[in-house]
Amino acid sequence: MRGTVGYRKMRHMRNMPVKQSTRSNGRPHPPAWPDPDVVTCPFDFHQALDFDPLLADLMARGPVTRVRLPYGDTGAWLVLSFDGVRRVTTDPRFSRAAIVGRDSPRLTPEPIVSPESVNVLDPSRSARLRRAAARAFTKKRVERMAPAVERVTHRLLDAMADHGPPADLARHLATPLPHHTICELLGVDPADRPVLLRRTHQMPATAPAARRAAADAKRYLREYFTGLVVERRRAPGDDLISAMAGAGDGAGGEGDEPLSDEELAVLAMTLVLSGNDTATCQIGNIVYSLLTRPGRWAAPADDPGRLPAVLDELLRLIPFRKGVGIPRVALEDVEVEGVRIRAGDFVHVSYLAANRCPAVFRDPHELDPDRPAHPHMTFGWGGHHCVAAPLALAELRVAVGALLARFPGLRLAVPAGEVEWDTATIRRFPPRLPVRW
Ligand code: HEM
Repeated sequence: MRGTVGYRKMRHMRNMPVKQSTRSNGRPHPPAWPDPDVVTCPFDFHQALDFDPLLADLMARGPVTRVRLPYGDTGAWLVLSFDGVRRVTTDPRFSRAAIVGRDSPRLTPEPIVSPESVNVLDPSRSARLRRAAARAFTKKRVERMAPAVERVTHRLLDAMADHGPPADLARHLATPLPHHTICELLGVDPADRPVLLRRTHQMPATAPAARRAAADAKRYLREYFTGLVVERRRAPGDDLISAMAGAGDGAGGEGDEPLSDEELAVLAMTLVLSGNDTATCQIGNIVYSLLTRPGRWAAPADDPGRLPAVLDELLRLIPFRKGVGIPRVALEDVEVEGVRIRAGDFVHVSYLAANRCPAVFRDPHELDPDRPAHPHMTFGWGGHHCVAAPLALAELRVAVGALLARFPGLRLAVPAGEVEWDTATIRRFPPRLPVRW
């Protein structure tokens, strides 16, 4: 396991010029941390669900620091405090659109998002797409989706029960549930789902050699969804693509120009990518967390009403991905947490660090479902907050609730230290989770 000491050494590597921060009056700004060196951040820590010691180290340096990531031709600011992250994610002077066409600082060789994805549009342009997606994920619609999620979950758990112990929970539930759910909702033919899943998994890989496969996968998915959109235009159904097109159930996006075929295809592809990636990790991570903390599995089984609070606190605490996501670019000089960020600089935020910000969460590294309610940032914040959070929550509640009800004696089939963790991608999750009951 790589420890904090190794990272301490790394942080003294002077591998890029440090920008001198200045106050708005032009005079040098006092540094917000004692050592202004740029920190080299591989963000490849994968020890179970421990908090990355490098992130802990960065948090100890101060709320904003300068980092260098594995890919991209320049460094970035990294904002770690809850307040700082809230600021960057809601201030229109930090633009996602401005990263398009630039070799932005990132963790994967191939940028995961397409230039037209909602993730890299600024609110002025993304609002229309987000409204279309929001129409697909309203509370009412998600409630209507619940039977589909439950149907898929129970089908998968039937297969796990038939298989008998020991069984791999990742293969039986965590991987297929989010994929089949979003495919079911988008109306993807079951025969096409395996190849879509394989292609989706090629996207978040971090090794340089993975670039070509990721680019091919991106092209494949885009062509696939373009074809599906054309089909749905011709024959709308009771599926999300038809709903987002405003054609299926009369939810027609009044006041908004209808989405073009291309916009719809990229949105559908983004939903499949985002829907798989995170929800799969979180199902495995949550089950692992509950099974490895004494008494935790039994507690919500005895009192199912506690499940939402337990899940919410686990979502706050679990580091479900490595390091950072998609950056922004400062459109003008902006001061964040006392640090002057210059126009043109890249800025990353860490939702993982913000979720453990001691200014907001008491004993932030402790799992405490009874802590005073405060929103966390696991679904992001501001203009790019997860559009499908209601669906994600429904998936997690149904998956964990059904497991508790059907497998109350669930336990790991190997010692916790022998569970393997993903090393190939930006995600943190157990690709295999052997369980018995
Ligand atoms: C537990 C599961 C999930 C977690 C933890 C999660 C987390 C996140 C986070 C942190 C972001 C914001 C990233 C940013 O700042 O750019 C995001 C955005 C997004 N998520 Fe989720 N998500 C989950 C499930 C899903 C599912 C199931 C779907 C779709 C079916 C989905 C679709 C999206 C989309 C389309 C965006 C982009 C929104 C935008 O940039 O405007 N997510 N999600």
